[in-house]
Amino acid sequence: MSNELILSKGKKVFKIGNEKIYALNNVSITIRNKTFYAIMGHSGAGKSTLIQILGLLDSLSEGELYLNGEKIQDLSENEKARIRMEQVGFVFQSFHLNPKLKAIENVMLPI
Ligand SMILES: Nc1ncnc2c1ncn2[C@@H]1O[C@H](COP(=O)(O)OP(=O)(O)O)[C@@H](O)[C@H]1O
Ligand SMILES: [Mg+2]
Repeated sequence: MSNELILSKGKKVFKIGNEKIYALNNVSITIRNKTFYAIMGHSGAGKSTLIQILGLLDSLSEGELYLNGEKIQDLSENEKARIRMEQVGFVFQSFHLNPKLKAIENVMLPI
């Protein structure tokens, strides 16, 4: 159970008015250390939603998320921030730098 990120029966529902959109509907995946994964699917299949949940940037509607055997989806925002800083890295397609800060200040921001 070590060095694994596990999503079990993950669901993510967006409600727009009376309509429910299942961006993820019962998705289970095990991400192992030092392993490369490619998530492929058509536009709207749920790829971005999935990686935002795996990266602790968004929350699940249903299901469980485990990191190294510990259930992590109900942790506090501060505890999730610590995991994002120390264990689950995220490289955005666009860099999301703060334009008002210097380069070094952007790098220092998380610490
Ligand atoms: N914030 C949101 N509000 C409402 N619907 C969303 C939101 N984010 C994603 N969706 C919907 O969830 C589905 C999956 O989207 P997304 O994860 O962005 O797919 P992909 O990255 O594979 O193109 C799509 O139907 C999309 O319209
Ligand atoms: Mg996407």
